Formats: sequence, C-alpha cells, structure tokens
Amino acid sequence: MDYKIALVKGDGIGPEIVDSAVKVLGRVGEKFGHSFNYTDILAGGGAIDATGEPLPKESIDLCLESDAVILGAVGGPKWDTLPGHLRPERALLGLRSAMGLYANIRPAVLYEALLSECPLKDSIACEGIDMVIVRELTGGIYFGERGRGEGPMGPEAYDTERYSVTEIARIGRIAFETAMKRKKRLVSVDKANVLESSRLWRETMHMLSADYPEVEYSDMLVDNAAMQLIRKPLQFDVIVTSNMFGDILSDEASMLTGSIGLLPSASIGSGKLGMYEPIHGSAPDIAGKNAANPIATVLSAAMMLRYSLGLEEEAVCIERAVSRVLKDGHRTADIMGDSKAAPLSTTEMTEKIIENI
Ligand code: IPM
Ligand code: MG
Repeated sequence: MDYKIALVKGDGIGPEIVDSAVKVLGRVGEKFGHSFNYTDILAGGGAIDATGEPLPKESIDLCLESDAVILGAVGGPKWDTLPGHLRPERALLGLRSAMGLYANIRPAVLYEALLSECPLKDSIACEGIDMVIVRELTGGIYFGERGRGEGPMGPEAYDTERYSVTEIARIGRIAFETAMKRKKRLVSVDKANVLESSRLWRETMHMLSADYPEVEYSDMLVDNAAMQLIRKPLQFDVIVTSNMFGDILSDEASMLTGSIGLLPSASIGSGKLGMYEPIHGSAPDIAGKNAANPIATVLSAAMMLRYSLGLEEEAVCIERAVSRVLKDGHRTADIMGDSKAAPLSTTEMTEKIIENI
C-alpha cells in the first residue's frame, strides 16, 4: 500500500528524531511491501522564522490531506519571549485542534532491560509497569478563554478551564475502550474537591461507567495520583484525565520508565487521521549533536502504523525491535545509568533498531 505521511520535523532535536523514524519506516516498508510518501510541513519556530507565524494555513491543509502526521518537537529558547499567540507551541496546539485530535494516548512501559534506570529506590516494586495515560487534548485550560487585565490588586492574567459533557464523554469512551482491551482497570483523575469542571468530569465518567460494567472504575484526585504514581505505580492500568493534568502526569510516568526519551504518543480523533509525537520536547541543549534518543519517535511511528494505517503486525515488528535492542544492552546517553561505555548516537541507535526489523 501507498501512504501519505506529513512530517512536522520542527525545532531542536525534532529533525534528527523524525529522520530516525523515517529510516525505520523505510525498512518496514521494504519488509512488508509498503511505500510511505513524505511531505515536509513547516510549523513551530522554523515557521516563525520563515513566515512570521507558527502555523501557516498551508501547513494545516497539508496535514489534513495526509493519512497521518509525524511530529518531532517544537519550541526553543530563541522564541521564548514571543507573545503567547506567536509561540512555536501554538503550532502544536493548532494542529491538534484543526485535526480534531481530542485524545492523546500515552503508554508508559518499563522495559525489563531498563529496570535499573527506574529512579525509585525499590525499583523491584516497579517491575512490570505498563500503563496508558489517555489525555484529553483539545479542550480544558489549554483552549479556554485567557487574557490579561487590571484587577483590584493591579495587573493580572487568567486562563479558563472549561469542559462540556460532550468533550468529557468522548474522551471517556476512548479510555473505557482502551481499558477493555487491557486489564480492564480505569482510574479517572480530576480535582473534584475544588473545581466545578472536575465535578462535571466525574459525573460524566460515572454515567459512562454504567456502559462498561466489566471495567473496574475509580476516581482519584490529581494530587493523590501524583503521589500514587511514585508510591505504587503497578496499581495503574489506564488513566484518563484532562489536558493539563495529563500533560503533567505523563511526564511523571515517563520518568518511572527510565527516560522521557522513550515514550511515544498517538493523538487521535474520530477518524483515521492522527498525529504521532514523542511526549518529550525539543531538547535545545543537545540539538544537532546526534545525541538524542530516537526511541520515543520511532515508537510513535509504530503507533501510527497501528492507529492510522491499521498495520498491527508492522507496528509490533518495530516495538519488538526496540525491545530487543534494549535487551542487547544498546543505550543512548539518557539511559546509560552508571555505565562507563560510550553511548550510542541517534543514528547508531536507529541503525540498531533497523537491524532488528
Ligand atoms: C506535550 C508538550 C506540549 C503540551 C507543549 C510543548 C505545548 O508538553 O505534548 O506534552 O503541553 O501539550
Ligand atoms: Mg508535556
């Protein structure tokens, strides 16, 4: 089959890690007889430099016309002082919203070979960590009304958390369906003891849970969830939560697996079109040094094969290759632990993965 893939390489390490994913897909295409046709999309800091805006309309259109989008990372210190609507991150939020990608699936798996990389003292209590965070992606405080003004105490600023029943129910369904395919345990994370939007979130999740009697459902307050992830990570199978809580908790969960450089994500909506992005950022400190860990992006490409292209066998093939490479002891700098060996570069790690496909 022929597929049209849009590449938003972005800023910082973005181009390097997206190149890795493309190379790995090339090998998968060879092996299974697919061809992937790529279009480079301008978005983020690079787009600001070239056109003055983070997400030109043409970029949105090209993404909408493709079968799937792979995104590296956007942002960097160069653009940090620009006003909010002109920041590179607007490109990411704009793409998620324009494509209707309201669900962000973020699996966090601790590989057996990386047990020593888990920073918890009792890493044995972490053996077998395998959870999925289902993060709402196009609503909440990220997209609510915001502004600045003069208040009773002087200059002020505000952002608004707002959720509709429709938005909560559609992400809830994805979470319950995800749980049904796994260990059938779902925790919904909110701040219902304080926030009205969280109380509506909780009520809606409870209504949905009636449709999924097989799923063991519970609620958890976000502060407690942050603690429980460290205290007893194995209790989690699927977590569903709002845009901002999901952003924070997924970084926390990633660390349990050894490195944020390992975690992929799939941003999906009601159709087949999706955007596949590592959960980490543009890492400007190591950009251009061929030092980034490409695994998060390579695994995001695997998620693309699974969710947007329906190529399950091909996706598993990439996931197995990554797992084997780690088992064989190959490491990039972020997962070296105390080892004195020289870390693999981005391209060397990519080659190792390709050899295993
Ligand atoms: C993520 C990132 C983004 C987010 C930033 C770069 C806007 O942190 O994908 O987790 O907050 O969604
Ligand atoms: Mg984040």
